[in-house]
Amino acid sequence: MRGEQQVEAALKSYEDVDSWKTVIFLYNAALKEVGTKLEILNDEFQHVHKYNPIEHIKTRIKTPESIVKKLKRYGYETSIENMVRYINDIAGVRLICSFTSDIYRLAEMIGNQSDLKVLSIKDYIKNPKESGYKSYHMLVSVPIFLSDSVVDTKVEIQIRTIAMDFWASLEHKIYYKFEGNAPEYISRDLRECAKMVSELDEKMLSLNEAIQECILQEETRDNMDDVLEHVIGTRKSQPKLRAKA
Ligand code: GTP
Ligand code: MG
Repeated sequence: MRGEQQVEAALKSYEDVDSWKTVIFLYNAALKEVGTKLEILNDEFQHVHKYNPIEHIKTRIKTPESIVKKLKRYGYETSIENMVRYINDIAGVRLICSFTSDIYRLAEMIGNQSDLKVLSIKDYIKNPKESGYKSYHMLVSVPIFLSDSVVDTKVEIQIRTIAMDFWASLEHKIYYKFEGNAPEYISRDLRECAKMVSELDEKMLSLNEAIQECILQEETRDNMDDVLEHVIGTRKSQPKLRAKA
């Protein structure tokens, strides 16, 4: 049976099937709202700082199969009420960044959006999971304005670097392949890779900071030259093409 049919069969009445469709409609609307907000934040950052904190954005609605499976895992029967109350990641947004500093910058910007309510935060970067998993999770709710009501709808936002995302995708594949019981040597290697990912992220961040410092010094020198040229008509160095951050 297909996932959708499976859910519909598990629901007790036509009214339930109807509200299932309404609920999915709301989660889709919430994804659009949050996705647009994040794109605007990214564009504004590009406009002001000539820099994009978001490399890319992925959005997804949890499949009906996964919703049913998760409810079972949590020990709840399949109902619309349980799904809305207990499953926090029906609507999911993943933000992939270049640097760990971008993650905290984005988290702060998201927290400052007055119409978003931050329901919870899990910082698996400061406190990585046993598996080695690192990511910054925010559970937010966004108001969806309908013709005759406003419905606060939950969205799970995961923020991570490209390197963390690479690691998490492989780990996820392995986890599914072995149904959570991967051989010890694989889990050990994954933890080892997670360490390498952290080291790479740290190194890339400090390299980027060094590059920014060079650009700043170059700009300061150019500005000084402009002043000197203006005041005494001399110029010490050739003006340089300014690199973008
Ligand atoms: P779930 O019931 O699995 O959603 O966990 P939770 O409700 O305790 O939330 P948590 O914040 O721990 O995890 C939410 C999501 O983060 C998961 O659905 C995954 O997408 C991701 N995640 C959490 N832990 C891991 C991990 O060890 N490996 C990978 N690859 N992803 C993880
Ligand atoms: Mg999940």
